[in-house]
Amino acid sequence: MTTIPEHVAIIMDGNGRWAKEKGKARSQGHFAGVKRVRDIAIHANELGVRCLTLYAFSTENWKRPQTEVSYLMSLPEFFFNSYMKEIMENDIRIEMIGEREHIPSAALKIFDKAIKTSKDNRGMILNFAMNYGSIDEINVAVRKYTDEVLSKRRSNDLAGDEFKNYLFTKDLPEVDLLIRTSGEKRLSNFLLYQLAYSELYFSDRYWPDFDEQALDEAIKDYGMRQRRYGGLDED
Ligand code: IPE
Ligand code: IPE
Ligand code: MG
Repeated sequence: MTTIPEHVAIIMDGNGRWAKEKGKARSQGHFAGVKRVRDIAIHANELGVRCLTLYAFSTENWKRPQTEVSYLMSLPEFFFNSYMKEIMENDIRIEMIGEREHIPSAALKIFDKAIKTSKDNRGMILNFAMNYGSIDEINVAVRKYTDEVLSKRRSNDLAGDEFKNYLFTKDLPEVDLLIRTSGEKRLSNFLLYQLAYSELYFSDRYWPDFDEQALDEAIKDYGMRQRRYGGLDED
């Protein structure tokens, strides 16, 4: 029996290259990627993962051509229209992290509806990072903390890992495993604080090719890691 990570976070990368290799438009890569989100979410829930955080759109992705940005922002509607029924049948709860500002209101509405509809579900949390960037998140957190100190709601005594309570992820378990697809080996402004002691796994597969078996392999690899947190092996 292998250890199942409680919280898995994935940088879903490589949609564009997947499409290019097949002579297709980048949008077709993103479309194939959305279907993969469904497969991986259902499978992770079945494996007993408690929380799956997916990097769907970064604060840097606004730099892409407007047509691509608009297409990406239309995908939540396709996703929830197509799969909400299954999400409910599987008892999965939808959440979202990131800055709401700038996300088109139609996409926000779709997310809010899915979050509300699934709020009492007790299976895995499927958490979408939308317009998410770690640097932004840290700025927001520092402003919140500073406000509390200046308004005398708390003293200036932040210590240990208490800062995590100011982040968008405050209600989620610690990230055990970070997966990035497509062969890139960087974090691209994703969960910089939260990944302090996470295990990292890099797959050469493009996201639309990252299937259930690929997730099983990543989790198997995770199960063989020795997490020491700066201490010594127990055995
Ligand atoms: C990931 O695929 C999807 C998003 C960043 C939204 P990319 O679009 O980055 O695909 P590549 O990296 O160009 O292949
Ligand atoms: C990271 O992928 C963001 C998402 C997967 C949403 P990018 O493709 O944007 O990252 P870079 O540009 O290669 O660092
Ligand atoms: Mg990319």
